[in-house]
Amino acid sequence: MATIRVIFESGEPERLIQFDPLKAPFQHDGLPGSILDVLLGHGVRLEHACGGNCACTTCHVFVKRGFEELSEAAEQEEDLLDKAPGLTMTSRLGCQAVIEDQSAEIVVVVPRFTVNQLGEGVRLAS
Ligand code: FES
Repeated sequence: MATIRVIFESGEPERLIQFDPLKAPFQHDGLPGSILDVLLGHGVRLEHACGGNCACTTCHVFVKRGFEELSEAAEQEEDLLDKAPGLTMTSRLGCQAVIEDQSAEIVVVVPRFTVNQLGEGVRLAS
């Protein structure tokens, strides 16, 4: 089983999810097995204004652990991340970062604020 621990900058309680990457998708938004897919499929909210189609940055997360266990970012994701507020060396778009390893141990931080590139301005991520 893979695990993902979710830490919220907003102060919401942490969540720990155990899942089998082979059972993806867990719901219908984002790439199957992506951080967004896993979170939404296990009742954890993550903004996803474009529906998980790599067209906004509202699903931006900081990967604190397991960055190398995620799928590589495509050019479109890299371009969008350049516009994400608070960009770090381990930033990813939750809808595009796929957890492929069945024993992956991922820790992500959900930033307090995200900017919706579709034009809705600054939104609270929680
Ligand atoms: S939900 Fe829009 S880029 Fe991930």
